[in-house]
This record gives sequence, structure tokens and C-alpha cells, in this order.
Amino acid sequence: MKRLGVLTSGGDAPGMNAAVRAVTRAALGRGWEVCGVRNGYAGLLADTIEPLQARDVGGIVQRGGTMLGSARCPEFAEPAGRALAQRNLAARGIEALVVIGGNGSQSGAAALAREGFRVVGVPSTIDNDLYGTDVSIGADTAINVTLEAIDRLRTTASSHQRAFVVETMGRECGYIALMAGIAGGAEVIAIPEREIEAAEVAERLRAAYRRGKTHAMVVVAEGAKHGVQGLLKHYGEQRDAVGFELRLTRLGHVVRGGVPTAADRVLATRLGAAAVDSLAAGKSGILLGMLRGEIAATSLAQIAGRTRPADAALCELARMLAI
Ligand code: F6P
Repeated sequence: MKRLGVLTSGGDAPGMNAAVRAVTRAALGRGWEVCGVRNGYAGLLADTIEPLQARDVGGIVQRGGTMLGSARCPEFAEPAGRALAQRNLAARGIEALVVIGGNGSQSGAAALAREGFRVVGVPSTIDNDLYGTDVSIGADTAINVTLEAIDRLRTTASSHQRAFVVETMGRECGYIALMAGIAGGAEVIAIPEREIEAAEVAERLRAAYRRGKTHAMVVVAEGAKHGVQGLLKHYGEQRDAVGFELRLTRLGHVVRGGVPTAADRVLATRLGAAAVDSLAAGKSGILLGMLRGEIAATSLAQIAGRTRPADAALCELARMLAI
């Protein structure tokens, strides 16, 4: 191998930069040249590709977002888009790619691999919904950002005897809400994988109020059926319905921003370097993830279109402890 490309694609995630740095330096260490593709697959189509040296990726390990830029690129899902990308890659002598991104990005990588291009995926999405890894880059930071918001809201909730509904990101996956809700001692956690009716949320809040709680936290994943607006529509105006006065906080893209945690930086560094090792060993068409604490490869063909199921035991634990 002489020349490797690296790109970050889809929604950005804290830790992507650490992965870019690890891929770049591990590849340079093997004597390969490295090219950074701007703005994900869109940069492959637009041919915005630049060489990366060790110093170019200095001072980024602690930075959120991605220095390469990211984008969602529907054109890459079409064979014509991928053909153009492959022509641009060939013209630059890029023999393999490391794709750092989430579900849509790894589906793109799977398509490239099917068409014979050497590609290794590195899982990166705050949603943590990728099949083939227990944890994706960015998820730990997103949980901690959500948790900090819950902890802050709890103090003001308690002063005013209020319940707060906090909505966090995660697309169709409740992972961030579940983990932050457990860590933050939420009274109710609403996630798409385990829907809860608005009436039951109200009942649980009412019960918490009757038990003498001075506040209550409801953590809602953005993909949950009723969502924040639904709950507020039902109960926002009726204090009698839930006991507490209700307030809403929607975290939105705040969850995706800021400094990556140590766990995300280390994960990204390990997986980025492992991606280079795999290519050096002649392996491609795989996603490198963490399964039961070990780096493990799963075929990209198996990953496309699948998602991780929610942990049923954790859902039950959260419900049991919210008394
Ligand atoms: O996939 C990451 C994610 O942040 C989801 O949690 C969220 O639903 C979506 O991206 C938001 O997308 P955009 O940044 O395009 O608004």
C-alpha cells in the first residue's frame, strides 16, 4: 500500500479528530502517504482531497467536531456517485479508505467494498446504534453532556418543586437517553425501543409527587413516540395532572458539540490505529468495533441496514430504581 485516504462522514461526533489523527500517524508510521478527504463522501465527489502529514493532525485530539469536515451525501448512495468517487480516488492513486462515521456512512462503505474498493469502517456516532460494536465514538461524550444538563436542571427543579422533561438526541435509538437517565437518576426514561404512554408518564410523576419528591426528571429520546411536545401538549397546562409544574429543555445539537471525553479519545485512537493495522494485514470490507471489551471486525455487508438493540436489562433497572 502506498496511499491511504481517510474521511469523516454523517453527523459529526466528539472523538472523530482523535480517530483521524490515529489513522494518519499509524499509516505514516508504516511509510504510507495519507490523504484527508474534506466533507465526507461529498469530498470524494468534489475531489477535495489533501495530503496529511503528522503535524497537520497535531493539537486536534482534544477538539470536538472534525477537522476534515463532514456531510451527509445522498449522491453517494447512487452507483453513478460512487463511480465518480472511484474515478477520483484512482486518479489520485488512493488505494484504500478509512471511513469514520455512523450507519449511513458505513452503508456507503459497504457499497464501496461490494464494488471491490478496499475500505475499513470506524464506528462514530453519538447515537450508538451501529451493529458490530458495543460502543461508537462520540456516544460517551454525548451521554456526559446530557448528564451534565440533567444534573444542572435537577438543582433548579428541586428549588421550585418542578418536573423537567429533557429531550436528548439519538435519532431512532434511545441509548443516550437511557444511559444518561440512569446516571442522572431520572424518574422516567422514554425511548423508542420501549415506548411509554403519556398517561403512564403522568401517573409516574403524580406518584413521585405524592411520595414527597421535590423534583422529577423525565428524560426523553428524540425518537420516542410522544416526544417532548406530545408530553407537554398533554400535561403542560395542567399542574393537577402530574402534581409538579412542568418545564421543558430540548438539548438538540448541544449534545453533539464540545470536548470529547477521555473514553472517546482512547476509543477513537485504538480503532483508528487498528483500521490501519487491518489494511496492512490485507483485510478490508470490515467495520472495526469493540465487542465485549475487545477490538473486533465485522463484515460491512452484515452491518448495512441493521441497528443495535436496546439493553433490556438496563431498561428494567432504570424502571426499578425510579421509586
Ligand atoms: O446521527 C446523529 C444525530 O445527531 C442524531 O442524533 C440526530 O437525530 C441527527 O444526527 C441530527 O441531524 P442533523 O445534524 O443533520 O440535524
